[in-house]
Amino acid sequence: MESSLNEHYFLGHIHDVLMAQSKIPTNTMIQGFSKRSQEEKVDILLNNFKLPSSLKQTLNSHLHKNLQDTYNQFSENTVSNFYLPYGVAPNFIINQKEYAIPMAIEESSVVAAAAKAAKFWSRLGGFQTKVISSIKEGQLFFTSDWKFGELKEHMPYIHTALIQGITDLTQSMEQRGGGIVDMQLIPITDIDDQSYCLQVHFETADSMGANFINTCLERMGNHLCTILEDKNKTKQVTIDMAILSNYTPSCMVECTISCPIHSLGAYAGNYTSQEFARRFEKAVLLAKHNTPRAVTHNKGIMNGVDAVVMATGNDYRAIEAGVHAYAARSGKYSSLTNITLTDELFTYTLTLPLALGTVGGLTKIHPLAHFSLALLGNPSAYELMQIIASAGMANNFSAIAALVTSGIQQGHMKMHLSNILFTFNASDDEKAKAFNYFNNHTVSHSAVKQFLESERHTDNEI
Ligand code: MEV
Repeated sequence: MESSLNEHYFLGHIHDVLMAQSKIPTNTMIQGFSKRSQEEKVDILLNNFKLPSSLKQTLNSHLHKNLQDTYNQFSENTVSNFYLPYGVAPNFIINQKEYAIPMAIEESSVVAAAAKAAKFWSRLGGFQTKVISSIKEGQLFFTSDWKFGELKEHMPYIHTALIQGITDLTQSMEQRGGGIVDMQLIPITDIDDQSYCLQVHFETADSMGANFINTCLERMGNHLCTILEDKNKTKQVTIDMAILSNYTPSCMVECTISCPIHSLGAYAGNYTSQEFARRFEKAVLLAKHNTPRAVTHNKGIMNGVDAVVMATGNDYRAIEAGVHAYAARSGKYSSLTNITLTDELFTYTLTLPLALGTVGGLTKIHPLAHFSLALLGNPSAYELMQIIASAGMANNFSAIAALVTSGIQQGHMKMHLSNILFTFNASDDEKAKAFNYFNNHTVSHSAVKQFLESERHTDNEI
C-alpha cells in the first residue's frame, strides 16, 4: 500500500517536472552570453528582461574609467561594479600597537560602533590578542577495496612518498615557513567500508593557501593511486575528490578585553557600572545557551569580521562557513564569546577560527585591498587574524552594550534616518531639522515622510 502511494507521488512529481519544463521558453534562453562585449551583454539583459533603457546608465555609471580591466579579471560576465562603502574605524589599540581598520560594509552603524568601542578600549589597555594555532586542512577522498588496517600499516611509507612526490610544489612554501605538517587516514564508515579521507594538515604562512593546498592534494591523489597500485595491482583505488576544508578549528585566534568594572560607565547608560556588567554577562549567557540568540550574537561579531575580511580582499564565504561550523562544533550552535566577572573585573573573550591571507588571491591585485593592507602596516596573516578578531570583538561589545541599555534601535534608527532622508531627496536644511526633530521622536519611514510633507507645506505626495 505504502509503496504504491509512493509510486503515485513519484509519478505525479515527474509529471509536474515535465509540465514545468515544457513551459520554459527555450527560444529566449541567452546563448553565448560570456562571449559578448560588456555593451552587448547589457543590451541583451535589457531586451530579454524588458528593463527600461534608463537602467543601462545605472550599469554604465558604475563602470570604472581606468580600472575596469582589473575588475573584469576578478570574475566573469561582468556588466558593472557593485560598490560598497569603504570606511575606516580608527583608534584601535591591539597588543599596544595602534591601527586604523578599513571596513567594507553596507550596514549603517557598524563602522561607527567599531570606532566607538575602539576608542573606549584604547583608554583601558586596548585589545589583547593571540594566535592559538594556524593549521589548515585539506581532504583527499578516495574509494578503495584496501582494508583500513592494511592502509594504516602502510601509512608511514605513504606519508613519506606523498611528501617526496610534491617537493617541487612545497619547496618555496617551506622557505616561507609553511608546508605539509601532518596527515591522517580516516575511514568514512558512515558511507561504507571502502570510503576514506586522507586528511592533510598544512601551514601556509602568509597566504590563505587555497590554491596551494588544492594543487598539492590533486597531485597527492595521483601519487596515492600509483603508490597503492605498485603495492598491489589487484586492488582498486579511485580518487573521489581533493579539496581544502573551510572548517578550520586548528587556525584559531583569541581576543580579550578586560577592565575594572567601574570603568564601564561610559557604556552603562542609566545603569550603574556593576548593573551594566551583570546585564552584559546575562546577555552573553543567553547567547551561550540559546541557539537562536547565539546566531544573532555571532552575526554581530561577523559584522566587524566580514567588513575587514572584505576590505583586505579575503574570502568572506570561507570565513563565514568556518566560523559557524566552529560555533556548532559541540553539536549545538553556541556563541563565540565568553565572559568572566569578578567583583572588580570585567573580562570578555572572543575565540574564533580565521583562515586568512595577506599575500596571494585578491590581496595585492584589488587596489583597495592593497590600500587596506598598507593602512594596516602590511601585516602578516597572523597579525591580520588578530586585527580582524579585534574588529569582531569591538562590534560585538558595542552591540551587546546597546542591547542591554538603550536597545539597538536608538542608534540604528538615527543612522537609518540619513538613508530615509536620502531617498526623499531632503535638502541640507530639511536634514538638519529632521535630525533635530527625531532626536526625541521614533524614526520610521512613514514618520519621516510625514515630517517632510509638513515641512514642505504641500499636499502633494512626496
Ligand atoms: C545587527 O547587525 C547585529 C546585532 O543584531 C547583533 C546582536 O544582536 O548581538 C545588533
